[in-house]
Amino acid sequence: MNEQLQEDLRRELDQLRQAGTYKRFNTLCSPQDAVVRMEGRGEVIILSSNNYLGLANHPEVVRAGIEGLERYGAGTASVRFICGTFAAHTDLEAEIASFLHTEAALTYVSCWNANEAVIPTLTDANTVIFSDALNHASVIDAMRLARPARKVIYQHSDMGELREGLRSCEAGQRQLIVTDGVFSMEGDLAHLPDILELARAHDAVVIVDDSHGTGVLGATGRGVAEHFGVLGEVDIITSTLGKALGGAAGGFVASSMVVCDVLAQRSRPQLFSNALPPTVACSARRAIQVLKENPSLVEQLRANTRHFRTRVTEIGLKPLAGEAAIIPIIVGDTAFAMRISEKLLDEGLFVTGFGYPVVPEGTARIRVQMSAALKQEHLDRAVEAFQRVGREVGLL
Ligand SMILES: Cc1ncc(COP(=O)(O)O)c(C=O)c1O
Repeated sequence: MNEQLQEDLRRELDQLRQAGTYKRFNTLCSPQDAVVRMEGRGEVIILSSNNYLGLANHPEVVRAGIEGLERYGAGTASVRFICGTFAAHTDLEAEIASFLHTEAALTYVSCWNANEAVIPTLTDANTVIFSDALNHASVIDAMRLARPARKVIYQHSDMGELREGLRSCEAGQRQLIVTDGVFSMEGDLAHLPDILELARAHDAVVIVDDSHGTGVLGATGRGVAEHFGVLGEVDIITSTLGKALGGAAGGFVASSMVVCDVLAQRSRPQLFSNALPPTVACSARRAIQVLKENPSLVEQLRANTRHFRTRVTEIGLKPLAGEAAIIPIIVGDTAFAMRISEKLLDEGLFVTGFGYPVVPEGTARIRVQMSAALKQEHLDRAVEAFQRVGREVGLL
């Protein structure tokens, strides 16, 4: 190993430790659920997973994965177009398209890959991309891979700035507006009706990454579009299978047949990387079916979110407002957020603190993520832990 590199990297790690921002990776010895067993800690309540609907350990979702493994073996051993497409993939894609009311869907091994597929593939030298300043890192990186005529990063949800940008485009240019459906660090929603209206007025294409909206928003969990009553009106939806829909991994693009066909033909993560493992494809398909059969899961998630928001507000915390299942509590300094998270863990509550560079300096936060799997007793214990720790560290 190159000694100079090792030394440089050791210094980098030391700086993180000194700043109190070195991340510790907690090892879990049981499935994702309301309560998990953590190595060295025993049982803790989880308040920071994306297991929004509690389907990660649902018996039917687990069983479908086992059946997928038995039927198809471990994996595709190839990319899709060579010999890596199983019926598990096409079945899942049909299920996603029908769930989201789109003509077609195409899966990837992650939503990160889905975003890196869509944005560069649909961009040419005559394209202008408009992207919300708080879009997810995968959108930001996808934009870096694209080579448009121009990139416009508009201030978070600033529709005036987006309108001005669209007005400044030349005739004949392709315009892509890319936004998260739910912003992952703030928990707020894209102003989708306004974005769609602007897009129609300027003949622009709307791409929504609904990773934190799928399974969470709308009466039946169909996401931010259902929430705003515009299901079927978004040109392209990308989302993940690694959160509400089973929590394993995987992502997808849901759109027209033509868009999905072009992505299958040309997007690089599709052409040069193996397909989704069939276990995951089978589990995710079952997760969507379980959700369709039990829309009350979405209501349970919403009731838990409302209850937790109310209770923490009553004890004096001030979570950012929002309608999704992300409840950020701003605490300021990154090291402070990590210390609070550590103290909450001492109280048997696993909830992660986020700081710079994930969020701007001074806006570090404890990001609570709600789950339908949590029962009243878990939420009560969680609020008590927040109260004790909040007092101890001077947050209350
Ligand atoms: C908004 C958003 N998009 C994309 C992703 C990436 O999803 P995946 O884990 O499927 O790559 C995430 C994950 O955190 C996300 O929050």
